[in-house]
Amino acid sequence: MQAKIIDGNEISRGIRKKMARGVKSLKEKTGITPGLAAVLVGGDPASAIYVQRKGKAAREVGIYTQTFRLPSDVNEMEVLSLIERLNHDPLFHGILVQLPLPPHLSEGKIIQSVLPTKDVDGLHPENMGKLLLGTPLFVPCTPAGIHQMLLWSGYNPEGKHVAICSRSNIVGKPLMMTLMQKREGANSTVTLCHTGTRDFASITSQADILVAAVGMPEVITADSVKEGAVVIDVGINRVKDPSRKVGYRLVGDVDFEGVKDKIEAITPVPGGVGPMTVTMLLVNTLKAAQLYDLETYHPLMFEAIEGQYEP
Ligand code: GUN
Repeated sequence: MQAKIIDGNEISRGIRKKMARGVKSLKEKTGITPGLAAVLVGGDPASAIYVQRKGKAAREVGIYTQTFRLPSDVNEMEVLSLIERLNHDPLFHGILVQLPLPPHLSEGKIIQSVLPTKDVDGLHPENMGKLLLGTPLFVPCTPAGIHQMLLWSGYNPEGKHVAICSRSNIVGKPLMMTLMQKREGANSTVTLCHTGTRDFASITSQADILVAAVGMPEVITADSVKEGAVVIDVGINRVKDPSRKVGYRLVGDVDFEGVKDKIEAITPVPGGVGPMTVTMLLVNTLKAAQLYDLETYHPLMFEAIEGQYEP
């Protein structure tokens, strides 16, 4: 039987509808309009598209948003002083610095300059530390999106063996910290695989849930997955395709055609993890705005886990 498709667009629509209601209710109760500042350095076309997508999605749920564009040769002091200004600007409850940054800028220094209470990307060391300790404030958007996708599609990771192929700060490490927590909707046994892992396939093929974020097209093949597994494909890779007008098509890290008859479910590329990452940025921005007014503060994350928001 062919695998079920875990549709990130559909799940996103459900969460964004709730989001729009949450934004409206915050505005009515407190007069606060959640605000998101996006900082885009340089002219990387993929980054520009991602930031555009995030801005459009934010506006659609009623979040005020503005993009601050800086040239690729900007010096670090200018970036830091823009962030300092945004940290103090009451219009913005969330600040997003699109990554990657040009190599002459210190990603670590710039991420650390964002106020942790406005760090809607969840990448500040304080927020990473809170996540590790089991008291998260903002969970990074891609891992949060993957977690919500599993819950919303009925694949609760509790007690399951999850293999994560990534040790990045954006995906692998925070996802491992999220799923290993002793908490309803998590409580998984997590194995983290990386470039130093020996006999990769023998580990991934034992996993009930496999998360692939290796950044290489279609390298996870049928012999690397367990029969009946749930597969989350985080990869977005361009491969040449002369039959398409644009000359390429997007594929994930997983060989979709090769695994689809062996597994229980899979996220598509595009239309899987991508829209969920954007959605979780909106969730974190509303949460940041709600922190301004503790009376209305209500973490959407836990409501979803309790099953109130089943689609
Ligand atoms: N670049 C790729 N993914 C992300 C993300 O989740 N946040 C930011 N800021 N940049 C990214």
